[in-house]
Amino acid sequence: MAVALVVAAGQGERLGSRGPKAFVQLNGRAMVEWSIAALRSSPLIEQIVLALPAGATAPAGCIGVTGGVTRNDSVQAALAAARSDLDPVLIHDAARPLVTAALIAEVLAGLDGVDCAIAASPVTDTTKECDGDHLVLRTLDRSRLWRVQTPQVFTRAALRQALSHSPPGEIAQATDEAMLVERSGGTVRVVPAPAENLKVTTPLDLNLAELLLSRRVD
Ligand code: CTP
Ligand code: MG
Repeated sequence: MAVALVVAAGQGERLGSRGPKAFVQLNGRAMVEWSIAALRSSPLIEQIVLALPAGATAPAGCIGVTGGVTRNDSVQAALAAARSDLDPVLIHDAARPLVTAALIAEVLAGLDGVDCAIAASPVTDTTKECDGDHLVLRTLDRSRLWRVQTPQVFTRAALRQALSHSPPGEIAQATDEAMLVERSGGTVRVVPAPAENLKVTTPLDLNLAELLLSRRVD
């Protein structure tokens, strides 16, 4: 059985909300509650641990810990509070409230024979690499490019190895833990996921999430 770590300790500076982003109201619930509901409805998840802003309370039935300065600090704080017998470890951003139990199951199934499986959607825009002066260096082959999301699922051994063997500077810079697994020589598989599983970063994303959630039929 799996343990889910939900990172919800960010400030949400780019959203510009008054309080922490995970607690912004979204269609009648705090944003983080949408992810918790999806995880609770998954029979594959045994425990849910949240990394929270200082002073916030964990939703009923979940373990809450105070998050850290970076996203990865928050992941590590949640991992330290999780039951150590549960494997694999699923990591999810509270900023992705459109996650579903179906996607959770697909990413967990994707862990078959690899160290890490991650939700991702195919890149649909033509994508170019530029230098610091905005001059184009090259056009990337879009057919091989993926926009990475969460949930991300890890074998406990691979996550432990990646966290304990990566240099501290690299860990602080990493925007996800799959990157650390890649760099430590582990295998990472992308699991096709809907672009609808968006990350709420800006006010535009929040509007889109409101619209998409309001159209959902339960
Ligand atoms: N996160 C966290 N602890 C941190 C930083 C981020 O738990 N120290 C979490 C956020 O709560 C979010 C996820 O990591 O669920 C992805 O981060 P991001 O979208 O960047 O959220 P924020 O850091 O809150 O936003 P911003 O960067 O705009 O301040
Ligand atoms: Mg951030």
